[in-house]
Amino acid sequence: MVEYSLRPRYFNEYIGQTQVKENLKIYIEAAKMRGESLDHVLLYGPPGLGKTTLSHIIANELGVNIRTTSGPAIERPGDLAAILTNLQPNDLLFIDEIHRLNRSVEEVLYPAMEDYALDIMIGKGPSARSIRLDLSPFTLVGATTRAGSLSSPLRDRFGVMSRLEFYNVDELTLIVERAADLLNVKIVGEGAREIASRARGTPRIANRLLKRVRDFVQVRGDGIITEQAARDALDRIQVDKMGLDHVDHRLLMAIIEKFRGGPVGLGTLAATIGEEAHTIEDVYEPYLMQIGFLQRTPRGRMVTMRCCEHFKVEWPK
Ligand code: ADE
Repeated sequence: MVEYSLRPRYFNEYIGQTQVKENLKIYIEAAKMRGESLDHVLLYGPPGLGKTTLSHIIANELGVNIRTTSGPAIERPGDLAAILTNLQPNDLLFIDEIHRLNRSVEEVLYPAMEDYALDIMIGKGPSARSIRLDLSPFTLVGATTRAGSLSSPLRDRFGVMSRLEFYNVDELTLIVERAADLLNVKIVGEGAREIASRARGTPRIANRLLKRVRDFVQVRGDGIITEQAARDALDRIQVDKMGLDHVDHRLLMAIIEKFRGGPVGLGTLAATIGEEAHTIEDVYEPYLMQIGFLQRTPRGRMVTMRCCEHFKVEWPK
């Protein structure tokens, strides 16, 4: 699958997140020197910044197997117990969207993370007792877009917490050039930079835009991604100079036109533009706040003057 092969497999191929990467390298090397499992790692931050990729890299660098699952996929405690008892020593278990684990499953995880043990209840009523089953040492890597939604007992059991940040344009340019190379697409530096600068700080978006631009130059152009070719294609698919797409436009223009710039509550805003509140919060808002177009206030969401300037509309205040 092409998508998978674009993912870097080792740290030396992974661009950006320098601080997180350098620290993880130390922890991995130390764990390997001691012949122990790596301490549990929580990766958090907006979607598309490389949490899944990093978890695979950690497993590759440790030289262990990785088992991947997600919070909503583990429905019952027994599902998690089955996974945990099948791990080899020092293996890595990756749980995506770990904030969506249900309570009863989470409770299986506490002794597993802390003591590499499962507490199993046998029987019911007054004669019920629990027996402890030992597990092989393992590393849990949890990923979430919202660290704040994790219960504190779960959060406290991670020895390493790494927050992923949006990538800068230089980093994304390198990522686009690397992906173009893997996809055998000809691209000039300015073409890569044009795609990078409209990718909302997010490698997943950069790679998606690259593929769409590739389609345009293949069918309508000469197969080479120049700055102009990238501009034309991105304008055509309605990704603007700041990387904002039609949902961002709808969201921001709704605040400006229907709520006089805000503040407006998240629920009201979600209903107005027909998107899920969680999606707005986790997917759209982090970048809009990062570029200073949107503010979250106790009374609701507000656009900024900079946002109005971008859309060439009057500041409603
Ligand atoms: N592809 C997606 N994310 C990447 C990254 N951080 N480094 C290199 N290639 C990538």
